[in-house]
Amino acid sequence: MTDTVLVTGATGKTGRRLIPLLMRRGAAVRAASRAPAIAPPGAEPVPFDWAREGTYEAARKGVDAIYVVYGDPGVAGDPADQVGALLDGAADAGVSRVVLLSALGVDQAPPGDAMRRVELAVESSGIPSTILRPGAFMQNFSERHRNRLVESIRERDEIAMPGGDGVVSWVSADDIAAVAAAALTEPGHEGKGYTLVGPEPLTMAQVAAFVSAAAGRPVRYVEIGRAEIRATFVESGMPPDVADSISELYVYALTSGAFGVLNDDVETVTGRPPVNFAEFAAGAAPAWLR
Ligand SMILES: NC(=O)c1ccc[n+]([C@@H]2O[C@H](COP(=O)([O-])OP(=O)(O)OC[C@H]3O[C@@H](n4cnc5c(N)ncnc54)[C@H](OP(=O)(O)O)[C@@H]3O)[C@@H](O)[C@H]2O)c1
Repeated sequence: MTDTVLVTGATGKTGRRLIPLLMRRGAAVRAASRAPAIAPPGAEPVPFDWAREGTYEAARKGVDAIYVVYGDPGVAGDPADQVGALLDGAADAGVSRVVLLSALGVDQAPPGDAMRRVELAVESSGIPSTILRPGAFMQNFSERHRNRLVESIRERDEIAMPGGDGVVSWVSADDIAAVAAAALTEPGHEGKGYTLVGPEPLTMAQVAAFVSAAAGRPVRYVEIGRAEIRATFVESGMPPDVADSISELYVYALTSGAFGVLNDDVETVTGRPPVNFAEFAAGAAPAWLR
């Protein structure tokens, strides 16, 4: 029985959705954020900053399970060391489950890769763990994100992204949160890794057509290259060296087809098919209103 869950990234795309799902399953939730005042109703707010190790102990005290979102690329310090420090001693303190939000393909990355090192830190923590490896989130088009897509759709009717004819099986944060809720509260997910993708590989032009239909006005896809998306990341405050690697990853993910895979993990865990892009866009349309 999971009584209390520490949700890191509580204000983010998956954390915000996970909190009510956990509460519905009878768990108490501690919502970790650098701005704890904005914790959702019913959750216990706790100040938490990956860059300030002094915040870790109070956040994890007394919890049974932890949802680990390694926030934002750009947090100062080494992510694997920070996740390792949060989990160090957590088993003795009563933590019996960890669910990590990683990303599609990270299990194939070399052991020195920053995100793979975070996975290895979780796996070597001695706490039964589940690793979620989602593809690209649908909500990148409708919620606060470093790529500033929601702003460019709203203000310029444009989706300016790398991609070209590459396909991506965009996944909804609702499905990721549903899988996380199951893995944090039900037996049988320990030691597993789930690849979480949506039901249809789409080109950017197809995405723009769904967004246009939901927004009620034409929204066009404009292909940009690595330099332009890197500049957007730097403008958003991302350190330039991090923007170098994240922009490279973006171009790879959106153009290579590597994020256009399909699989059954969402349906296997949740019992229902993943949300499709038209359903997502219909619900997200208010974000694109002028
Ligand atoms: N978006 C995608 O398409 C995608 C795809 C695959 C994997 N992922 C992974 O999913 C995770 C979330 O990505 P996202 O971009 O969609 O972000 P998000 O979850 O929407 O937002 C980032 C979250 O991280 C928290 N955060 C940022 N800096 C922090 C810090 N220094 N200390 C503590 N918390 C911090 C923020 O909380 P506060 O500001 O409240 O502190 C916020 O809740 C990342 O690890 C990413 O690699 C994302």
